[in-house]
Amino acid sequence: MHDVVLISGDGIGPEVTEATKAVLAAAEAPVRWVERKAGVAALADGQDVMPEATLDAIRHHRFALKGPCTTPVGKGFSSVNVQLRKKLNLYAAVRPVRSLPGVPTRFDDVDLIIVRENTEGLYSGVENEVTPGVVMSMKVATQVGCHRIAHWAFRFATHRRRKKITVLHKANIMKMTDGLFIKEAEEVHHREYPNIELEMLIIDAGCMKLVQDPTRFDILLMENLYGDVVSDLCAGMVGGLGVVPGANIGDREAIFEAVHGSAPDIAGKGLANPLALLMSSTMMLHHIADELGDAQCAKVADRVSQAYDQALAEGQSTRDLGGSLDTSGFTQAVIDRL
Ligand code: NAI
Repeated sequence: MHDVVLISGDGIGPEVTEATKAVLAAAEAPVRWVERKAGVAALADGQDVMPEATLDAIRHHRFALKGPCTTPVGKGFSSVNVQLRKKLNLYAAVRPVRSLPGVPTRFDDVDLIIVRENTEGLYSGVENEVTPGVVMSMKVATQVGCHRIAHWAFRFATHRRRKKITVLHKANIMKMTDGLFIKEAEEVHHREYPNIELEMLIIDAGCMKLVQDPTRFDILLMENLYGDVVSDLCAGMVGGLGVVPGANIGDREAIFEAVHGSAPDIAGKGLANPLALLMSSTMMLHHIADELGDAQCAKVADRVSQAYDQALAEGQSTRDLGGSLDTSGFTQAVIDRL
């Protein structure tokens, strides 16, 4: 059994985490949940918004599954997600984007994985006013940061038997920052992973090629801002943010979560689609399998994804995907197919 920290989150968070727990229990996943709080739920419990006990539990157990947390707009506390990323140095944001059976979209054969550098670039938040009317935002790239994300992407490609990494960049204009990003990717490729194909594309042309034919891509590697934008663009190709899982991964710790938010408009009504968190949980099981060499985790993950694929292919889906099931109805449909 592997101990995994479970943060239910806010809004629809508790509904989708309960659904995920039920499916993993039915699939006999070798996971024991260590429940901890963060965000509004932690505040309501009289704790800090990002309790040290939750951070310590993640540091100790290494793996966490997290429901969405509400972030107040323009006031109040800063995003729990950003705090977790910073405090645990989760430098790799990973988002697999795959066409799903029974979810009709413009493309029906997308199978991409986006790897985004999560700590540098323009998101370093270094901004200043040079003189009244002139403001500046600094793009930061470090050799350490560029090297470790490139290395992570190639190692991940090897584990997942992926054949090609495409770096989307703008090194023709940002010769130093994006130049460093592609130089480190080339070096890691040349020295350690020559068997995986490495392709370099200027991001504007790359985006055009993506929407013309996403099947020519395999893994996309990008710095922070490009990765943020292109991830959502790719999510749109397969049915939107509601069907896309995600992970933030560091050298030791990894947090898996759906891409969508806490959906306060439907919270508590039994309407939430648990699919994205369920998909995140299968990503987590594959990650545990890679990290700890536990093949059983990967087997369970495959069984669970076959079960939800089958449910979707048979038209069993929640209302946001055009179906008629509520949260528990879809959860049961997946369990029935395990
Ligand atoms: P949202 O993703 O929560 O909702 C956008 C729309 O999609 C809503 O109409 C909602 O009902 C629907 N939706 C989202 N997830 C769904 C699901 N699983 N099933 C069915 N329908 C679903 O985005 P919004 O409204 O911008 O953000 C709400 C709150 O969530 C904010 O406080 C925001 O900061 C937070 N948030 C948290 C994230 C996280 O913890 N990772 C990520 C994104 C937003």
